[in-house]
Amino acid sequence: MLNLHNYPAIVFPEGFLWGSATAAHQIEGDDIHSINWRDQTLHPERFIHHSGKACDSYRLYREDVELLKTLGHQAYRFSIPWSRIEPEEGKFCREAVDHYRDLLHLLKEAGIKTFVTVSHGSDPAWFWDKGGFADRNALFYFERYVKFIVPELEEMVDFWLTINEINIMERPGCDKFELRRNYMICHAKAFRIMKSYSSKPVGAPHAMASIMPKDPHFEADRAHAAMEDWILNGFFYHALRTGELVFPHYQAETLPELKDSFDFWAINYYTRHEVSSRTGSGGALPPLYARLKLIDKEFYMSSFWPEGLYNELLRLKDKPVYITENGCCCTDDRWRIVKMCQDLSAVREAIDDGVDIRGVLHWSLMDNYEWVSFIPRFGLVHVDFKTFRRTPKPSAWFFRELIGQNGFTPALIEKYLPELPKFELYR
Ligand code: FCB
Repeated sequence: MLNLHNYPAIVFPEGFLWGSATAAHQIEGDDIHSINWRDQTLHPERFIHHSGKACDSYRLYREDVELLKTLGHQAYRFSIPWSRIEPEEGKFCREAVDHYRDLLHLLKEAGIKTFVTVSHGSDPAWFWDKGGFADRNALFYFERYVKFIVPELEEMVDFWLTINEINIMERPGCDKFELRRNYMICHAKAFRIMKSYSSKPVGAPHAMASIMPKDPHFEADRAHAAMEDWILNGFFYHALRTGELVFPHYQAETLPELKDSFDFWAINYYTRHEVSSRTGSGGALPPLYARLKLIDKEFYMSSFWPEGLYNELLRLKDKPVYITENGCCCTDDRWRIVKMCQDLSAVREAIDDGVDIRGVLHWSLMDNYEWVSFIPRFGLVHVDFKTFRRTPKPSAWFFRELIGQNGFTPALIEKYLPELPKFELYR
């Protein structure tokens, strides 16, 4: 793995795809017909901030495409909010469809490959009034939406993504397994629909994390970690490969439509999770590395853990892999460069060891609304949430040069982080 004090030059295979990712609810603003918006209104106590105008990207999307061009991105992942496409049950909105056609058109003109997610946290509120993904009878609404939107956009999409992070979906009051099973049914349906209209590859973004026992010498922690790993990672891989749903304490089930319902592994990776069998929550106290103060409030980042990315990728040798999210939130932008180099070195090592990884999309193009607040700053580009002014951070320029070189060299790292040899990772 990359030693930041003595780093080698790293080059990626020819044709490797570089870009960034976003999601509609997090950048567009005014997602007023979504269940998230409704929740924000009815349960403000669950949120630190209201999403409001977010980055105002629904209005400023042309500017965002210009940004992608300026920053040299070769690919862009974004999502279509069902809440805008079908704001009222059965009423599809032509203006919204045309908006996304225009966005795709601009991206195509710029020669940017498109990854389009059809479900990334913008379900319409009316859908959840009918039970949403928690109710099997409501699932045909999702199918109807996918059947509508796929042929509308097909010609300009390069990669389809069905539902984001099925493996961590939860909703207050909903049974965890029932929800996951329904999401799996919907994913399988979406996959079949996409394949029937389109020859483009289809994947389902998976929230991958490395699960580790707090004490690797304590059998109970190891057993706990193995179980948690199954629930988070193994369950999902097994289900997509075989169609069989195996969830602890539930009767196993086989969904024939689900078997092999993906063309590539779509992987979102941030960090590891330590688990302990001695705490009520099952989680361990944050490891020593958490002392690395990245933001005021800890969010997803308890450590930099490229080893986890490398190890987990080795499980996915049966199909091509695209990293559909990877990044970190930090106010000190230098950490973004450090983490990027570390995780990319892990990706390179996994390629060397036989994993067919074909591209990396950085999360995120710009600072955005992170589901409950604006505090975590994941962007390559800084956003002023009052004026919506976008300003690329040094990491964005670093990434542009990295894309240009299809990798990085000690000289490039030194250019952006001259202090690195003396940089203290742990305090
Ligand atoms: C992922 C989500 C994405 C973003 C990042 C930080 O789990 O898919 O929307 O919130 O985390």
